[in-house]
Amino acid sequence: MSGGKGGGAGGDALPAARTVAALRGTVRGWRAEGRTVALVPTMGALHEGHLSLVSRGLASCDRVVVSIFVNPTQFGPNEDFSSYPRREAEDAAKLAAAGAHLLFAPTVEEMYPPGSTTTVTVGGSFTEGLCAPFRPGHFAGVATVVAKLLLQCLPDLAIFGEKDWQQLQVIRRMARDLDMPVRIDGAPTVRDPDGLAMSSRNAYLSPVERRAAAAFPRALAEAARRIAAGDPIEPALAAARDALRAAGFGPVEYVECADAETLAPVRTQGGGNRSPARIFAAARLGRTRLIDNWPVG
Ligand code: PAF
Repeated sequence: MSGGKGGGAGGDALPAARTVAALRGTVRGWRAEGRTVALVPTMGALHEGHLSLVSRGLASCDRVVVSIFVNPTQFGPNEDFSSYPRREAEDAAKLAAAGAHLLFAPTVEEMYPPGSTTTVTVGGSFTEGLCAPFRPGHFAGVATVVAKLLLQCLPDLAIFGEKDWQQLQVIRRMARDLDMPVRIDGAPTVRDPDGLAMSSRNAYLSPVERRAAAAFPRALAEAARRIAAGDPIEPALAAARDALRAAGFGPVEYVECADAETLAPVRTQGGGNRSPARIFAAARLGRTRLIDNWPVG
């Protein structure tokens, strides 16, 4: 195996671990050599956004592990678990070219052996609003699988995309609350030239829907601009909801302004010393559920 900090193997076949024991064995070997380790948890169907997480890992650690696991516990009964794109061979080739050092691709039975009953739940404002009411159980599924991945790999650094901002805050809170000895890093959203945030689920969009989807980041950016300019918050959010409906989105699940760290709703201008606000939205376009977020100011 070659590669290291600042650039990996770039083309060699990528070693894969299918079991926790194999993952731990490889990481143990790296630790014995004094190497630092980054983990990039994914569900596969990798795009440039994921590869930017790998680059970030390579920039700060000697070895980068990428996990691909379509986690059943974070999907609701009527969600897209069975149709979620699975393309491991293609993903492995992309990861090898990006310089990752190890693919961890466990089975569902390896991750959740018969008899598993433990769930990690992050409470408070982190899981009260935004996506949480629309996806009951989702964040418990995410927190549980991420806690397991962190304990299986024991990385120095774990990297998540900012597109899933609520997920990132939930994971940060969990790592702090459980004293996990890992640095959680959020990486900027990678966007297509028309502004749409890259997502594995964009593959579900028809060509017509894909063109309409450009209205999504535009509506959020415009609401953020108005709020940063001092406009009242609710009318700016209502205009964004209207813009999405006019572009063919429906239902629009939410367009909200919330505290960037705690995710508590922000309903009025001014607000003392809370963290900067962000605009958050989820809306359906045909059968595809899109989410995105945008900084205010
Ligand atoms: O963002 C994702 O792809 C997933 O939610 C994650 C963090 C890999 C957990 O399954």
